[in-house]
Amino acid sequence: MIKKGIILSGGLGTRMSPITKSVNKQLLPIYDKPLIYYPLSILMLAGIKDILIIVNKGSVNQFKKILPNGENLGIKINYAEQDKPRGLPDAFKIGKNFIGKDNVALILGDNFFYGQSLSDKLKKIVNFKKGASILVHPVKNPNKFGVVTLKNNKIINLVEKPKKTKSNLAITGLYFFDNSVVKKSLNLKKSKRNELEIIDLLKKYKKTNSLKVEFLGRGAAWLDAGTIDDFNQTSIFVSSIEKRQGFKIACLEEISLMKKWIIKNKIKKAISFYGNCEYSRYLKSLL
Ligand code: DAU
Repeated sequence: MIKKGIILSGGLGTRMSPITKSVNKQLLPIYDKPLIYYPLSILMLAGIKDILIIVNKGSVNQFKKILPNGENLGIKINYAEQDKPRGLPDAFKIGKNFIGKDNVALILGDNFFYGQSLSDKLKKIVNFKKGASILVHPVKNPNKFGVVTLKNNKIINLVEKPKKTKSNLAITGLYFFDNSVVKKSLNLKKSKRNELEIIDLLKKYKKTNSLKVEFLGRGAAWLDAGTIDDFNQTSIFVSSIEKRQGFKIACLEEISLMKKWIIKNKIKKAISFYGNCEYSRYLKSLL
């Protein structure tokens, strides 16, 4: 069972400069809420209540203004800083004490997931003891992602941003690991681009046949808000769904209430915290 999760929200945000010169990318809006709400909502939907958010140096206080210690959501939020981007597996080095003897999920702070039965799928995936699981989704431009090649559902190959590949299955930024991930990450060597690579970590699991591939499924959407265009696309997606259907994607208080992690009184407190805005009006409608 996975009860702990890490959101990796560091990085320099250089691809979105000048916007990210003074504000952290994860605090910028995807339509009506900060980007960080979306990956956090995914961990919460998976039933994960103990969360470490890794942010870049000097920005913890900015994050705490909007997401303090999690008490308001019936969860636990801890923070750690990454002083420079050393690669995704660095999350397990930084999070070593937080992870302790437990298994852990990792979600990249700029990944967006939405889809029918996603919560059920996540709840099933987190229910494991050993090994690792990745979620994959077909894309038109696999050369921009980590890519997995399968044959008869068996993993043949894992490559980071391949120049050429016959597979269109991108590895999304949501990973589930058993506790050996800490030791495996400590033993990883840096790649040619001087970073610890998530693909190298996954290969260690593949070597012992303990890497599982899960499909998000055709009915689901996965977006990576890495560049300004991706950011806009994701915003448009969220606004279209929310306007059409009248419910919000990644309303953290709603998820907590649905899971009975908080009582309605906390929603009232949230309304006075957010003030007079559309998000508060939505919260009011939940009461
Ligand atoms: O989005 C899925 C993809 O994410 C995977 O398919 C790739 O295999 C994986 O390597 C990653 O690729 P990206 O090119 O998107 O990685 P990027 O370096 O942009 O980092 C993703 C996020 O993680 C970004 O918001 C910044 C943050 N980050 C990244 C690094 C390397 C950190 O917080 N610290 C880091 O050291």
